[in-house]
Amino acid sequence: MPKNLRDALKDQLTGEELEQLRAFDIIGDIAVIKLPKELLPKKGVIGRALMQVHRHLRTVLRQVGPVGGEFRTRELEVIAGEPRTKTLYRESGCVFKADLAQVYFSPRLAHERLRIASQVKPGEVVTNMFAGVGCYSIIIAKRSKATKIYSIDKNPVAVQYLRENIRINKVGDRVVPILGDAREVVPQLAGRADRVLMPLPELAREFFDVALRALKRDGGVIHFYDYGRQPDIFGPSLEFARSTAAIEGREVELLDGRAIRSYAPRCYHIALDLLVRTGSD
Ligand SMILES: C[S@@+](CC[C@H](N)C(=O)[O-])C[C@H]1O[C@@H](n2cnc3c(N)ncnc32)[C@H](O)[C@@H]1O
Repeated sequence: MPKNLRDALKDQLTGEELEQLRAFDIIGDIAVIKLPKELLPKKGVIGRALMQVHRHLRTVLRQVGPVGGEFRTRELEVIAGEPRTKTLYRESGCVFKADLAQVYFSPRLAHERLRIASQVKPGEVVTNMFAGVGCYSIIIAKRSKATKIYSIDKNPVAVQYLRENIRINKVGDRVVPILGDAREVVPQLAGRADRVLMPLPELAREFFDVALRALKRDGGVIHFYDYGRQPDIFGPSLEFARSTAAIEGREVELLDGRAIRSYAPRCYHIALDLLVRTGSD
């Protein structure tokens, strides 16, 4: 048995080709791998090798392009195994169904989801503005005593899976799925949340005013995801949040800031936990 992908491919790829292999994600019984164009002629061999190393895999997909579009999806191509993109994935004691070609999905945020869930206090109302198939919302429901987790998404397919995942995980009494644009939905939920999640860095700044509206009058916590650059990874995002909140007479305190992952040299996907209070004036 080969011990890893490189080992499995050592007789079929040159040393230079082996160097070009990148990390892959395993989501349930599907693996998703990105390949540089030099390795495309070997994609079938690579896909089959992955299945040999990870025996539970049924399908290997190649990510053809970057995650993009308003639903944050990606084009996928089957390079080995069964021709499908739907799978069942387990994380933190929860089960999630998803069609990886039609919804956003990342197993790399597992730690971040648990970290957020661990902060939720009994009785809190949470609004998740960009809920996808429900990973954050359902893990929060399972791991905390939040009373309601409003879970908004604009992608009809994601919300279809969100509803199914709520049912499978038996959290239908507390996780409320809502199909729509957060900017249109949040006004109907204004002033209800103790905690707001914004897990979409591309829209974080554009939607920060919406997150402020979602919070209770006396404030709460916003989990603000953005992009940051060295040498000052958090400063510009914090400054943005403070100045936007100030317009509405609110103050922002940084509780915690973390770089979740790097996406380019010295550039990071960041998470800021912001405590928002009504200003003292
Ligand atoms: C990066 S994904 C995060 C999904 C989920 N939180 C997760 O981690 O799996 C962002 C999600 O926001 C949704 N979205 C994009 N624009 C939106 C909007 N204006 N209102 C509500 N949802 C939106 C997309 O459809 C996508 O599912």
